[in-house]
Amino acid sequence: MKKLIAGNWKMNGNLAANEALLRDIAAGLPAQPACAVAVCVPAPYMAQFKAMVAAVPVLSGIDLGAQDVSSQQSGAFTGEVSAAMLKEFGCRYAIVGHSERRHYHGETDAVVADKAKAALAAGITPIVCVGETLAEREAGQTGEVVKRQLAAVIHTNGHCISEIVLAYEPVWAIGTGKTATPEEAQAVHAVLRTQLKAATDQVARVKILYGGSMNASNAASLLAQADIDGGLIGGASLKAPDFLKIIAAANA
Ligand code: 13P
Repeated sequence: MKKLIAGNWKMNGNLAANEALLRDIAAGLPAQPACAVAVCVPAPYMAQFKAMVAAVPVLSGIDLGAQDVSSQQSGAFTGEVSAAMLKEFGCRYAIVGHSERRHYHGETDAVVADKAKAALAAGITPIVCVGETLAEREAGQTGEVVKRQLAAVIHTNGHCISEIVLAYEPVWAIGTGKTATPEEAQAVHAVLRTQLKAATDQVARVKILYGGSMNASNAASLLAQADIDGGLIGGASLKAPDFLKIIAAANA
């Protein structure tokens, strides 16, 4: 399966920094990357990304993603951005259920499942994030937690589950410099793959990304695992040389 390397810029950047970052990525992007590449930018910068693709054609090889999407279609939901709005700006992906949204915004498994459904209905691929906290890992609950999180999305989306991208992001590895070992990550990915297999006969279509302190030096060993189909990259996606090295690792 073609791997996917997706940058999650989180709440970082400004017009000048984004332009420099995207130009540097464009300059180093292989002419025909063997992997798919995406950047999930803050919503106000989607227009900038679109404008830059027109100015720097190489950037058309990078797909645009959002970091969140409303579960609602339209109406009195102040501050929310609908999937249809994202679609108008050419978004191919929307991250849903990132642990930072679950933690700071109280998003439940059911809300995350509804967001995935809203994205799919608008023709946007949700990148559904699951992952355990350190306390849950230490209590031996990792499998149970990620299965519960994925089960909600399967329940709400039925056979459309084959259209999602799944991302395993252990909360304790996000932004901490602590990465799951390739073996630890692979073990959880295998659990998720088995769960997906029971829900769809199209499991071969579903990419399962790893996220959590993936960087230029550990990407190759993580991406070499049988069930790791790409990466969701935070900090390292803000530095062009690092992001390019991860793309190169996925191409190898
Ligand atoms: P870091 O790569 O900064 O650990 O962030 C991972 C992440 O949360 C991507 O969504």
